Amino acid sequence: MNTTHDNLEKTVMNKGWIKPILLLTSGSVIVALIVIYSGTINVAANYPDHAFTRWLLHTTMEQSVKAHASDITVPELNQPDKILNGFRHYREMCTGCHLAPGITSSEIRQGLMPQPPVLQKTVNNWSPAELFWIIKNGVRMTAMPAWGSTHNDEKIWEMVAFLKQLPAMTEEQYHTLDQKAGKDDGDDD
Ligand code: HEC
Repeated sequence: MNTTHDNLEKTVMNKGWIKPILLLTSGSVIVALIVIYSGTINVAANYPDHAFTRWLLHTTMEQSVKAHASDITVPELNQPDKILNGFRHYREMCTGCHLAPGITSSEIRQGLMPQPPVLQKTVNNWSPAELFWIIKNGVRMTAMPAWGSTHNDEKIWEMVAFLKQLPAMTEEQYHTLDQKAGKDDGDDD
């Protein structure tokens, strides 16, 4: 019994690369702890992210959304009522951060880091299931809220239905929807 154990130990210790790897790993952990506790990382929202940090965070977010949204079933979205109600939610809750045709800036948006994407330009990068997941669950450590806390799935699909129309929408079409939607915010209350 002991011989097997001894042999195993010998095989492991004979591998010359184990020691350097252990040293490197503990060295990296110590450097990371020093960086964290020294306070040199600037968490201010008005301090731009380094390109590498931005890549790291956005790629992590993209991969996470794709993995989590993979088995969501998408309902019929191409229905005028759904699109109109989705517009109502969007006008009420999203334009301040994500703008819209004819709305080119807002006070809250300018102070945010990461900057909320202009959805009219980025929506086509996402599938309807991925949009649903993002809107329902939000994105942690960014300003993107989880709207699933206050809106049921039906309302979130309405927002997705509207978003799918957004890339091709002109300022006039947005204005027409605005008039059609009246003052209604799309919620039942
Ligand atoms: C307070 C600001 C804020 C509000 C309000 C807000 N969002 Fe966001 N949203 C963000 C930020 C910031 C991001 C970027 C997250 C990131 O970089 O990972 C984002 C990302 C997104 C994305 C992913 C877009 C992309 O191209 O990466 C979608 C889709 C989205 N939001 C939809 C919505 C919808 C729909 C609403 C309204 C119901 C909304 N958001 C309201 C701040 C906001």
